[in-house]
Amino acid sequence: MIKKNKISPIKLIKFYNLINYNLIYNNKAINRYKKDTFQISADKAENLVRLKETIQNIKNCSLKDGSTNMVFSDGNPKSKIMLVGEAPGASEDKEGLPFVGRAGALLDKMLAAIDLDRKKVYISNIINYRPPSNRRPTDEEIKRYLPFITKHIEIINPKILVLLGSTAMNALIGNEVVISKMRGKWIEKKFGNCKTSVIITFHPAFLMRQPAQKKMAWIDLKMIRDKNI
Ligand code: URA
Repeated sequence: MIKKNKISPIKLIKFYNLINYNLIYNNKAINRYKKDTFQISADKAENLVRLKETIQNIKNCSLKDGSTNMVFSDGNPKSKIMLVGEAPGASEDKEGLPFVGRAGALLDKMLAAIDLDRKKVYISNIINYRPPSNRRPTDEEIKRYLPFITKHIEIINPKILVLLGSTAMNALIGNEVVISKMRGKWIEKKFGNCKTSVIITFHPAFLMRQPAQKKMAWIDLKMIRDKNI
């Protein structure tokens, strides 16, 4: 005969309190990120500080010499989504943060369209100092800064890496590819120990010049929104 286990109501309440039964009976997904959204491991924090210091201490760099601030990153270092642009412009140089000028305003709108914002993602650039007159960084400059952004990606370890524009794409994927053929596809790639799904889309500054391409960027954004991570 099976013996029925009688548990006293007091014990049951204590048990439910212990296991936080609200989480079990709530039909919404448990938000594991609520409490410590920005709290990162000591290792990650230390690696980010070390990388930032290395870039700050770079020698004989005309980009650094000609700029006001280094632009390292913005957003949540714990995010599963990292975005990489080209290089800071005038507003970014002034504030020391990426994508805070006109292109940044459009980027914010693009993120909002898929229910994201800059606090939910992590943003950086291929180059950390503003090129004069916002010119495109030279191949030499990209070569010099590439180890930094590669390390940066490895430290953040995102599930999704969004490359904004052809400079970021050519620097991190290769010079033989063109953005019109590469955008809107998932590419599995490794950066050091970080295995990530890369998607390339148009740079917001390009979209401001070519608004007809926004429909293609919308396709890419929906792919990011719908990716299971
Ligand atoms: N364009 C970029 O690529 N990065 C910025 O931070 C600002 C504009």
